Amino acid sequence: MVSYTDELKEEIRSANDIVDVVSQYVTLKRSGRNFFGLCPFHKEKSPSFSVSPDRQYFHCFGCNKGGDVFTFVSEIERISFKETIELLAERAGIKLPIAENSEFNKNQYLKDRMYKINSVSAMFYHERLYKPIAKIAQNYVKTRKLDNNTLKAFKIGYSGEFNELYKHLIAAGFKDNEILATGLVNKTDKGDFIDRFRKRLMFPIMDASGRVIAFGGRKLENNEKLAKYINSNENLVYSKKKHLFALNLAKQSNSKKIILVEGYMDAISLYQRGITNVVASLGTALTEEQGRLLRKYSEQVILSYDSDSAGQEAILRALNILDKQGCDARVLQMEGAKDPDEFVIKYGSGRFNLLVDNAISLVEFKIKMLKQNYNLENANDKIKFLKELSRVLSGVENKIEREIYVDKISVLYNISKEAIYAEINKNLYKSGSDKLLNNAIPKKSKENLVSDAVIRREKMILYLLINHFEDAFEPIVTNIMPDDFKSEINKKIFQIILESTAESSDKVLQLISNIEDEEIQSNVSEILVTDYGIESVKKCIEDVIKIYNKDKITNRKLEIIKKMEDQSITDTERKALEEELNNIMINWLKKE
Ligand code: CTP
Ligand code: MN
Repeated sequence: MVSYTDELKEEIRSANDIVDVVSQYVTLKRSGRNFFGLCPFHKEKSPSFSVSPDRQYFHCFGCNKGGDVFTFVSEIERISFKETIELLAERAGIKLPIAENSEFNKNQYLKDRMYKINSVSAMFYHERLYKPIAKIAQNYVKTRKLDNNTLKAFKIGYSGEFNELYKHLIAAGFKDNEILATGLVNKTDKGDFIDRFRKRLMFPIMDASGRVIAFGGRKLENNEKLAKYINSNENLVYSKKKHLFALNLAKQSNSKKIILVEGYMDAISLYQRGITNVVASLGTALTEEQGRLLRKYSEQVILSYDSDSAGQEAILRALNILDKQGCDARVLQMEGAKDPDEFVIKYGSGRFNLLVDNAISLVEFKIKMLKQNYNLENANDKIKFLKELSRVLSGVENKIEREIYVDKISVLYNISKEAIYAEINKNLYKSGSDKLLNNAIPKKSKENLVSDAVIRREKMILYLLINHFEDAFEPIVTNIMPDDFKSEINKKIFQIILESTAESSDKVLQLISNIEDEEIQSNVSEILVTDYGIESVKKCIEDVIKIYNKDKITNRKLEIIKKMEDQSITDTERKALEEELNNIMINWLKKE
């Protein structure tokens, strides 16, 4: 078991800017000092996820998750802290110690070789497509109407026979184990090496940065016994759940929308006709990872599945995945062709773009699905349908959005708007009264009883201690005591700082970010990303101390008054109390 030194951790931390790293998963927009985006850890429609470039911390005001770049990566990738360190070191090009027994370093080298093999193979296949021997592939490409620019853009190729690729790779200096790891070549029981893809039209699959990670190969013969496609198996550099075909090209389209299709050929065909913001899922139902990728590169996803094959359930599932991630997802409705490839060849890109513009939302799609169960000529059915669709519409929180749907649906299904609104209002009233009932029993924790302003002030004190340690430590700890804190968690953090031997802001931050306690991390991250509007640190420290001293004096005053009411105290005692009270008042008047 390798453990890494704090110095190394710090080096890795500072080499991975949190805004850069988070941006790989979340679309961030700058606002003031911080960046905001939709939280990747919970479902939300308006951004409450915040990243502070100054403090290198993130915090979500919705779900309260927060922490530094290590926390973020470890949570989003669902990997251990050690794996996170390794991943971020790799990202920053930092070499980790103990190469010998580190599984990680061995993998790293192998991965590197695999990328190279994939790239060399893609070139091999692509160049082969232009050779006389590739007649069958050249003819096929013609029947599919692919032009040369397209062949180049996608590096489409033609695979060899028996073991041509293997020989080519060996000649290029690659080792058997490296070649086998890519799955491009298999070893038979007899010990012979044989190419996996033979005499197929080859589609290299690339990651978002354009590195070749796998291949899909289409059969060219009309032989029922052959599988239409074979694809690379999953391996060290390829997981079909995590990638999308053509994303490397789609992300260059500068469009806010991405069109999601099923087939390689659909993506390629649309691309050739100027619709370049298109990606294909890799023969799988849309996964959460793919959903995240889509959200990262687009604001709206248009699902354009084949009209026959795609079950409505599959569309609904994909829509729900995207919706859960805060993605605006729409369904394109296509008639007159079985898939986008056929459609765009038949009707052209203009007509396809119209379909894109008229794609329907999750809500409309759900209602359309409901409709299939009813015959609207039948009055009973129509009433049932009205009830069901109103229930779906009641779930739409945004009032304006709801109104737009009501307008559309009223026209589409010939149902009066008044009838729909009446049903919606019934539903809302019902759920509203539920809410009222729940609110009748207030569930207030101790923490909630303390006013927000006090909590905020305490957080600001911690902010000052963490960020301006050198200026803040002395004055604050001489004037404010742990027991002055009303929030237990703030008190805990205060004590940790108080008892630490740290002497600078950097060290305090390091100390705090290494505490493995979710509640503390959540609180600290919130503290760090909040803008307290501090103009002068010195003045701010003075002011906050004044408030605490004032509180203390007020409390002491009340204490004195209470004591003086006590008849059993001696005259000397009373005199001392009177004098103290007098002094307090005089000082107070002087300061005001
Ligand atoms: N697929 C696969 N293996 C198969 C069939 C399909 O991996 N035997 C995957 C491929 O990624 C394919 C996608 O599912 O691109 C969609 O299938 P299909 O619509 O049949 O493929 P197209 O790419 O549209 O090919 P074509 O138009 O030539 O039929
Ligand atoms: Mn197809």
